[in-house]
Amino acid sequence: MHSGYYDLEAVAEGVRDGAHRQIIGGLWDEIGDHQMAFLKAQGLTPNDRLLDVGCGSLRLGARAIAYLDAGRYFGTDISETLIDAGRAQELDDALRARAPRDHFAVNDDFDFGFLPEPVDVAIAQSVFTHLPFNHLRRCLARLAPHMAVGGRFFVTYFDCPEDADLYLPRRQEPAGVVTHDYQDPYHYRMSDLERAVDRAPWRYQPIGDWNHPRGQQICVYVRT
Ligand SMILES: C[S@@+](CC[C@H](N)C(=O)[O-])C[C@H]1O[C@@H](n2cnc3c(N)ncnc32)[C@H](O)[C@@H]1O
Repeated sequence: MHSGYYDLEAVAEGVRDGAHRQIIGGLWDEIGDHQMAFLKAQGLTPNDRLLDVGCGSLRLGARAIAYLDAGRYFGTDISETLIDAGRAQELDDALRARAPRDHFAVNDDFDFGFLPEPVDVAIAQSVFTHLPFNHLRRCLARLAPHMAVGGRFFVTYFDCPEDADLYLPRRQEPAGVVTHDYQDPYHYRMSDLERAVDRAPWRYQPIGDWNHPRGQQICVYVRT
């Protein structure tokens, strides 16, 4: 198991107990608003198609669906229970109609074949912080055919500076999260993030600090 999110039964049990917000990390309003403000500052417009990779229970989704034109939001997650809880409990009827169930896919191998058209913007917020390197490389390879040329994929990560020892645990401020090279939560070097492009048509661009409350950094992959 790469992370606790792969224990789908435990996740479902937590959702049954009413914890769909806590399971995806809590700080519901703070991190939801933070993502939305960041994407708008990066130029997201209501007409863009947005893909939320590892959308969970729609912390960003609830906000993005309200902002985007109807039918422009798409989400994927390993947990159907989280997606369904988000749709049932975080969206009202009007918002559910703007993001119908077939705008969501459930899989753990980054299969984006459900997307009807290329998307303009994608984000994976606090997803690759829970996954090993090969998952990021696979995600980039499989997402590329579904991104518009010039489209941007924002990815958050915990940083390990190039001159630091990758193999020691790192304390990430301001929240004191302890990250690792080989277990969840993971840290990465910038050079890892760049190397993850492999042969896929992306250009890696560092961004860095985006004032995330748990100290995650962000970078962007631009579809070439
Ligand atoms: C910390 S939560 C973040 C959720 C959401 N991005 C947000 O910021 O609210 C991580 C999410 O990634 C999902 N996830 C973990 N591994 C995944 C995989 N291999 N494919 C798709 N989703 C995955 C989890 O189920 C969970 O919903």
